[in-house]
Amino acid sequence: MSERTYPPTPEFVRGANVQGMDGYRDLFNLAEAQPEKFWGDLAEKEIFWFEKWSHVFEWNPPFVKWFVGGKTNVSYNCLDRHLTTSRKNKLAILWEGEPGDQRMITYQELHRLVCRFANALKGRGLKTGDRAVIYMPMVPELPVALLACARLGIIHSVVFGGFSAEALKARIQDLDAQVVITADGGWRRGKEVRLKPAVDEALIECPTVKHVIVYRRTGSETAMQEGRDHWWHTLDEGVSEVCPAEPLDSETPLFVLYTSGTTGKPKGIVHTTGGYILQATLSMKWVFDLHEEDTYWCTADIGWVTGHTYIVYGPLSAGATSVMYEGAPDFPQFDRFWRIVDKYKVNIFYTSPTAIRAFVKQGDQWPKMHDLSSLRLLGSVGEPINPAAWEWYHKVIGGERCPIVDTWWQTETGSIMIAPMPGAVPLKPGSGTLPMPGVLADVVDLSGKPVEVNREGFLIMRRPWPSMFRTLWRDPQRYEENYWKRIPGNYLTGDAARRDADGYYWILGRIDDVMNVSGHRLSTMELESALVRHPAVAEAAVVGKPHEITGQAVVAFVTLKKGAWDHDTLGEELRKWVAHEIGSFAKPEQIRFSDTLPKTRSGKIMRRLLREIVTTNSVTGDVTTLEDLGVLTKLAAQHDDE
Ligand code: PRX
Repeated sequence: MSERTYPPTPEFVRGANVQGMDGYRDLFNLAEAQPEKFWGDLAEKEIFWFEKWSHVFEWNPPFVKWFVGGKTNVSYNCLDRHLTTSRKNKLAILWEGEPGDQRMITYQELHRLVCRFANALKGRGLKTGDRAVIYMPMVPELPVALLACARLGIIHSVVFGGFSAEALKARIQDLDAQVVITADGGWRRGKEVRLKPAVDEALIECPTVKHVIVYRRTGSETAMQEGRDHWWHTLDEGVSEVCPAEPLDSETPLFVLYTSGTTGKPKGIVHTTGGYILQATLSMKWVFDLHEEDTYWCTADIGWVTGHTYIVYGPLSAGATSVMYEGAPDFPQFDRFWRIVDKYKVNIFYTSPTAIRAFVKQGDQWPKMHDLSSLRLLGSVGEPINPAAWEWYHKVIGGERCPIVDTWWQTETGSIMIAPMPGAVPLKPGSGTLPMPGVLADVVDLSGKPVEVNREGFLIMRRPWPSMFRTLWRDPQRYEENYWKRIPGNYLTGDAARRDADGYYWILGRIDDVMNVSGHRLSTMELESALVRHPAVAEAAVVGKPHEITGQAVVAFVTLKKGAWDHDTLGEELRKWVAHEIGSFAKPEQIRFSDTLPKTRSGKIMRRLLREIVTTNSVTGDVTTLEDLGVLTKLAAQHDDE
């Protein structure tokens, strides 16, 4: 833990949207004492409603509705309402492709693109309540696709382009999607990442999909299936630019985003309309201290929740100018991000600790090649940031002038929950500091009682908030059991945390079998089920190992079925297999072969022991060792069930 604190500078406070601790406390106290008034007033001020709600929220634990009876539209809030203001010709998206191509899109132009594409969707017979799976590179047509769906009330589910055909298929099937929106491919580290072939492979077993819309990005040869597949540019031709946003009930589902849980099957996190867009908008102002003249850049991929809320919906609803970048941070060399910051004079920059640690490792010469003096605020998300990386970010990127907002939240929470308001809250490197107004967090023991200062406990939320997920797609029972049963009536985040004497939150990591690799959630069970589907594998146990750059790395212990296996080639084959079953970002760093796995007498794999082995024993990069875990197995048997 770092003891140093960084209070906001007087200059920063003077210009900030929320000024000083009193400013923060006033908001927090009002939200706590009068939630209906607090959220009701903000919803009226910040969001456009076709029809006002009858009441602010309805809480029947664990199910909640916000702005009940209200009618609004997220796409309208992100676009139409700006067109009668000075934002009409303001840049919404400053896009740069990896090869260096650029597009500058104003709010008016974005509105036109979205209306046209929405009409193209309508023309295919798609309507409110239908499901669109979106599998695209980071091109402007990706936000266009999201906003067009939102405009019509079509529920979208973005599948990160790094997921395999298998993972894509599972998501399309779970949603019974009617349409897939994709591209021929995208650019990553100078190579084309093809997308359409994966869609074709997935669709062999997805009978509900009637239409595939393909955006041409790379121009490479692409097979199109007559009747099913349409080029985006052909559908777009001559289509009307008029497409009114549908007035949708506040609780209309906006999107489903799949994330890993503790079983082999990913969970479909369901977000709805009114509450989500309210908190997405507010956090832009409170956490990123967004001002009209700012240029803002979030480096996430829209395939993850960060990109949904902080590239698409939050910034556009708040009227920001955002940079969007297609490719890798190290292409053509390690200064690409800093080159972009310098070129577009970025003021607010939001990235992940994994990226920061990778930059630390590459050395200061890369950021030093560029003028980063436009930056005034930095952000971090996805995993705990270690104080050393924080200090480097603060000094080398922020020139010791920029506050760093360490933002804790989850796919489920929809928007930032614990983070400093940068003009108010003094920073402590490594801590997300204090909860947002309206977020009643706590750190408790198993009986739900708050733990003492600095003691580890479960991070929970005591009250519902507007942008929280409403359920799991077609599985309200799992929703209830997973999140609300353990500490009845409270939302269990799945994270362990402690609170210090100043009430600051320190996130200590997951309490379940979920790993966090490069800020991406991976489930032990999901990886294990993928491995045992391989014909050679009898059993698999997957654990996370601390990793200098990615936070954690995946290590898989594998026992094999009888046969003459060549460990050298099989290790590599299994890594490829995981890439095929899930996606290449999930590839284990190590495959370790063993005759047995340590188990309790009732047959449960003791992952705790395996975690100890990978943490203390430094056999790195070796995928070929046959481990003798027999000793451990005997040892484990003495422990019995934990
Ligand atoms: O463990 C926490 C970690 O990421 C988890 C949520 O992952 P996901 O739903 O994929 O969303 C990531 C982006 C919002 C959390 O349960 N996490 C996220 N942000 C932080 C964090 N851990 C520590 N500090 C953070 N700032």
